[in-house]
Amino acid sequence: MSESIITSRGAEKAIVYEELLPQIHHLLQNEPDLIANLANISAVLKDAFGFFWVGFYWVHGEELVLGPFQGNLACTRIRKGRGVCGKSWDTCKTVLVPDVDLFPGHIACSSLSRSEIVVPVFKNGEVIGVLDVDSDKINDFDQVDVHYLEKIVAMIG
Ligand code: SME
Repeated sequence: MSESIITSRGAEKAIVYEELLPQIHHLLQNEPDLIANLANISAVLKDAFGFFWVGFYWVHGEELVLGPFQGNLACTRIRKGRGVCGKSWDTCKTVLVPDVDLFPGHIACSSLSRSEIVVPVFKNGEVIGVLDVDSDKINDFDQVDVHYLEKIVAMIG
């Protein structure tokens, strides 16, 4: 298995994402274990972009439960429709939040988080989990992140 991921430091983020895609694909192809793969995707994204928090919540019944992540201690359970993660699950859509203070019902696991993106993970048309990425900078995510993070999670389902 690869022991490191190579990316161009300081390059435009679309270029870094393009470099990551085949490497993440390779990582997942060579490992069937879901937890191991979610852990490595979190680590790779945090390392490549320096995001404040990157991780997964997984659907267990009526709740999302915290899964593999990189970053600070986080809340462990989120009900459907609650917060950004619960909204992404409920609507089956990526949710982009430029300023978490302006998102009604945002769940603040850390007061340092300023913007956020949550991408649903699908299997057989159902949401089975979400990828949550937080930044300590306001307005840190855009359509480039939506495009590539959706491609990355599509490799999981
Ligand atoms: N902010 C999320 C909760 C998860 S933490 O950011 C890690 C939400 O509103 O769903």
